[in-house]
Amino acid sequence: MSNFGLYEERIRDFKWSIAEKELEYSNGNILNIGWYCSDRICLKGKAEKIALYYEGFGGIKKTFTFNDIRIAGNTIGSFLRNLGIKDEDRVCLFMDRIPELYLSFLGVLKIGAIVQPLFSAFGEESLFVRLENAQTRAIITQSRHLSKVRMIRDRLPHLEFIIVVDHVVTKKLENKEIAFSLSDSPPVGNLEIFPTKAESPSVLHYTSGTTGQPKGVKHVHYSLISQYLTTKWVLDLQENDIYWCTADPGWVTGTSYGIIGPWSLGITQCVLDAGFSAHAWYRFIDDYQITVWYSAPTAIRSLMKAGDEVVAQYNLKSIRHLASVGEPLNSEAVLWSIKMFDKPFHDTFWQTETGCIMITNFPGMKVKPGSMGKTFPGITGTLLDPVTYEPIKETGKVGLIAFQPGWPSMMRSYWNNEEKYREKFKNGWYLSGDRSSIDAEGYFWFIGRDDDVINTGGHLVSPFEVESALLEHPAVAESAVVAKPDEINMEVVKAFITLKPGFNANPDLELEIMNFIRKKLSPLAMPQAVEFMDKLPKTRSGKIMRRLLHAKEWGEEIGDISTLEND
Ligand code: WT7
Repeated sequence: MSNFGLYEERIRDFKWSIAEKELEYSNGNILNIGWYCSDRICLKGKAEKIALYYEGFGGIKKTFTFNDIRIAGNTIGSFLRNLGIKDEDRVCLFMDRIPELYLSFLGVLKIGAIVQPLFSAFGEESLFVRLENAQTRAIITQSRHLSKVRMIRDRLPHLEFIIVVDHVVTKKLENKEIAFSLSDSPPVGNLEIFPTKAESPSVLHYTSGTTGQPKGVKHVHYSLISQYLTTKWVLDLQENDIYWCTADPGWVTGTSYGIIGPWSLGITQCVLDAGFSAHAWYRFIDDYQITVWYSAPTAIRSLMKAGDEVVAQYNLKSIRHLASVGEPLNSEAVLWSIKMFDKPFHDTFWQTETGCIMITNFPGMKVKPGSMGKTFPGITGTLLDPVTYEPIKETGKVGLIAFQPGWPSMMRSYWNNEEKYREKFKNGWYLSGDRSSIDAEGYFWFIGRDDDVINTGGHLVSPFEVESALLEHPAVAESAVVAKPDEINMEVVKAFITLKPGFNANPDLELEIMNFIRKKLSPLAMPQAVEFMDKLPKTRSGKIMRRLLHAKEWGEEIGDISTLEND
């Protein structure tokens, strides 16, 4: 039987209960992701199997077995519970990719609290809006990020505990701050797991839209069902695999496929918490003999740029399966990987909101370079007409990617934002906000997003968030932020700015503004280019026409400008 047949067969016999059965879960029972990712694996006789190979800055190495992560999760959970953290309280993880990040993830879930992972490179403003929105009760962080938390804690009445996992006694802790060290805490062998059910909230990830502040995407413990099965089938993880997901758990890939998927399957995974370099990445694969590698197009393009001779310096024969997510995977990148590793990168498409892979190049299925593949078995996907929101019947016509709601890891709400949540549904379909075409064989060909959100290196940046932050700079009168094309990151942030009287456009001011955003929001949100203008294009009603500036950057037709204000 060919593998294409396998995909067909999976579709024909598909039921989500396949995963329920394998996980020995039945409806109405207790379902806790923290327990499934550690305790259950130990009960299955894999207590001494390696769960995590960690390598940090400066080459620090640590190894954890499934029993180690089980106990560490218990110890952190118990510590939080003793502070009074209870089910459904929000606990933010604000750490680099150190082991405590992964272990706290389990600990928070084990006591039934909601885990809110945030990217550690976020500046104080990005952090503030997300903690305020979620009314977060505790934040677990590291000394090096403490200064950012200190800048905002007094504006966060709900934030009661700031837990520092690497505190050194010589530094003074302040208001709300508590030191916690995993290595100095008595290990908790047995913890009473909070009896979460399928619909109990689990993970709260923040994602950016075009308008308004970032939205908290609420997931529930039942998400495990589709995260487990997609990891098993799409990433093709098998018992002896050594798996590497390059994503940071501040983003959904780093939790769905960097924690929950692999560990619920009892798979050994590797984490490299160091900056990107082609040598470091290939060396890491070589050292750990990584077999399955899940990464992103920007990283792949950076590796391509580093040159083929670098690949030749390492033994990468261990690689068995490759997958990619987050932004369009161009056909050149797929062809390059076939040349270098004798295997294609398998593109996968999904979102923070979907919680699991929705469109995929199923292992063994014919890969069409440049296409995202076909819907995962059990997922019904279509294209909707952008005006009528009716499914498009004609092959090859571009429409809005939409899915039939009801898969296990679909978001259950946007935190405290019922209105935005409702906007995601039309005629009973969930709208992804992306445009695509579908060919005669059911393969999706990505076209672009249906909004102004900037996807830089696989990370979504809201133009609204950057514009709002820019206005806080003393020199800025008005701003408009759009995507600018970029060879490696596909898109980067560009800001158009008008200045207040008394300020002059010059390179120093440009740099100062870039750094202002880098510190306040994040390096991702930092404009890579600033263009000073005398006035911004606006509609007659005074709305800035981002569309026009976007078209200019991309050398596209400007389209209808009848509403443009005249001098
Ligand atoms: C948006 C979701 C969940 C993965 C990390 C991103 C874009 C995602 C692809 C792909 C083209 C892609 C879409 C989507 N995107 N995967 N394979 N090809 N675009 O999660 O931050 O919620 O972003 O990323 O625009 O809507 P996210």
